[in-house]
Amino acid sequence: MKRLAQLLYLGASIIFAGCSSTSTEEQFVDDLLAEMSLEEKLGQLNLPVGGDIVSGAVKGSELDSLIVSGKIGGFFNVKGVEEISRLQHLAVERGPHAIPLLVGADVVHGYETIFPIPLALSCSWDSTAVERMAKISAIEATADGVNWNYSPMVDICRDPRWGRIAEGSGEDPYLGSIMARAYVRGYQGDDMKSDSSLMACVKHFAFYGAVEGGRDYNSVDMSRENMFNYYLPPFKASVEQGVGSLMTSFNLVNGQHSTSSDWLINGILRHDWGFDGLVVTDYNSIPEVATMGCTTESDAAAMTLKAGTDMDMVSGLFLNTLCDALERGIITEKMIDDACRRVLRAKQRLGLFENPYKYCNPQRTKDDIFTTEHRNVAREIATETFVLLKNQGSILPLKKKGKIALIGPLADAGNNMCGCWSMLCRDDLHKSLLTSMKEAIGDSAEILYAKGCNIYYDETTQLMAAGLRQIPRGDDRQLHREALSVASKADVIIAAMGECADMSGESASRADITIPDTQRELLKQLVATGKPIILLLFTGRPLVLDWESENINAILNVWFGGSEAGDAITDVVFGEKVPSGKLTATFPRAIGQIPVYYNHLMPSHPDPQDGVFNRYCSNYIDISNEPLYPFGYGLSYTSFDYGTATLENNKLSVEISNTGKVEGAEIVQLYIRDKVARIARPVKELKAFERIAIKPGETQRVTFTITPDILGYYDSNGKFVFDPGEFEIMVGPDSRSLQIVTYNVN
Ligand code: NOJ
Repeated sequence: MKRLAQLLYLGASIIFAGCSSTSTEEQFVDDLLAEMSLEEKLGQLNLPVGGDIVSGAVKGSELDSLIVSGKIGGFFNVKGVEEISRLQHLAVERGPHAIPLLVGADVVHGYETIFPIPLALSCSWDSTAVERMAKISAIEATADGVNWNYSPMVDICRDPRWGRIAEGSGEDPYLGSIMARAYVRGYQGDDMKSDSSLMACVKHFAFYGAVEGGRDYNSVDMSRENMFNYYLPPFKASVEQGVGSLMTSFNLVNGQHSTSSDWLINGILRHDWGFDGLVVTDYNSIPEVATMGCTTESDAAAMTLKAGTDMDMVSGLFLNTLCDALERGIITEKMIDDACRRVLRAKQRLGLFENPYKYCNPQRTKDDIFTTEHRNVAREIATETFVLLKNQGSILPLKKKGKIALIGPLADAGNNMCGCWSMLCRDDLHKSLLTSMKEAIGDSAEILYAKGCNIYYDETTQLMAAGLRQIPRGDDRQLHREALSVASKADVIIAAMGECADMSGESASRADITIPDTQRELLKQLVATGKPIILLLFTGRPLVLDWESENINAILNVWFGGSEAGDAITDVVFGEKVPSGKLTATFPRAIGQIPVYYNHLMPSHPDPQDGVFNRYCSNYIDISNEPLYPFGYGLSYTSFDYGTATLENNKLSVEISNTGKVEGAEIVQLYIRDKVARIARPVKELKAFERIAIKPGETQRVTFTITPDILGYYDSNGKFVFDPGEFEIMVGPDSRSLQIVTYNVN
């Protein structure tokens, strides 16, 4: 069999194509499986970390000997086509049965050309842009030897304290599903066998975005209604889109670790949704099953395999304990075969059996990574993701004239433009905002720069927050003084402040989500100068901006915009581009409002929303229920007027006019409310949207069709149901400013 397999791999497609007429691809995998020993099958289920990009458990020679002895099915976190190619050759030429390896990486928002963080990308509401970014990521990653991408993260999140909100598409299941599909299409292309496509891995299955208190790795307790209607749809959409693999999550769900949840993996994913692809655990998750009290350590691996999970990331427990579990009779050989078959099938779907070296082309590494073309796309997309939160007196865009003070610890921090998942890039190549602005302005204006302050007053907190991307520190008092002196000479102040890149992402939960202390204090001093001030807000999550929203003239949320962020921000600040992003996660007014999200249920004692506290109503004594900036919100340099919405038959239609002076893009949003149902339905749910470019003075009509699928919902058994009766159909520029039309369905 080994010889036959090699012939098939190395003799390339003609032989394979010849074979496929007599035997199916499934048959090929079954034949291979029949040749393998139990140990070799378990080897395929083992996924060690290959390098030290994050935290290396297995390196160098250890990896080599695992490969040669057939004890791994793949590895992740090895960068560079040369080394990956060497390892692939080792597997095919010296490993048992010449089985090629999966090569994984976290290419979450770009490989070396870095795009904005996913939360920002979702604020473009532009799935074409997301698909383009995913395609470019796939081209670059495959050019460097990667064939399996741990992206997209499709966890819905309603809690901005959780740092990983940065990695997903926000709080809405409808938008989240559209984005999930776009990522999968971009990564996998039409044909996963193409040299520039890779296998996507949707994560984290499931409910990780709902960890209690927004604290990473915490547990989740959730009703089935919530699961099916809000948290599962993006996963289901990815499966429908043909995603090749899924990753489990770190959390417990209703007392069971997701990694070993039979209900979730065998039940929902495989049985209900028909997923026959690969399921991998998250990093070292199997031992956690025991840590979290779901079973003993010795049974954790067996329980995980039994639940339908195929590959063990890092722990080695599948490899080292499943033989024993088989002997003890708590798992069957069929379970091992099924898991192994799914690993082999994934390799087959990638075309690795036909050509194991398809991703090992050093010429592509030279030609296809961090190209001017890719960087131009990244710059353009970044401009679509910024959200203009406030623009008093249309202070933005700025004219390139006079003296502009650029102040803040993020103004000259080229290493902090990318955001959380960018450890595979070269951040030394990225321009800081200061450099970009100076280049763009030339001699037409003067930029006066001051760093102004640290990220945090406290050195240790900053050290922790900045992780691998430290920003050199100075003395805060001295820095504040310098900033005020610079500001005093300027006509306008731009403050580049907020979070540094590693304050969001994995293991970056925050309890206080305001702009950190020293920065906020400096902002207050700058405001006290009386000069006009623009805040360019760097952040990986919604922040509480209560004071800023009252006191700063303009706030442009620039998130972490990627390798080209400096130029992209400059484009928007000086009006080369018009902002069009709209929020996909609610910005709370106060931390105590969390969780605060737009698609909530109606409380039993509704708040009359008259701006005062009402005893025995569902409201707070001290603040309003209303968030500061709602879901769907974002301004433009132009203005849009909505005509009166009309509903005829099942078509809702509305005219939108650009009443300003520049062309802009508007995101027209449609929400519904099911007034009477078997279970209470949210006060509004996004069901459709359209992103349209409108020229000044122009009017465009947008029409939405109300179809049964947007009126239904999932019951607690996961069954999609529909209750006839009265619905409200709402349309407008954001989830707060909506026209309502009544719609009756029998
Ligand atoms: C842990 C993270 O939770 C997951 O998102 C990532 O893909 C793996 N580590 C591998 O790096």
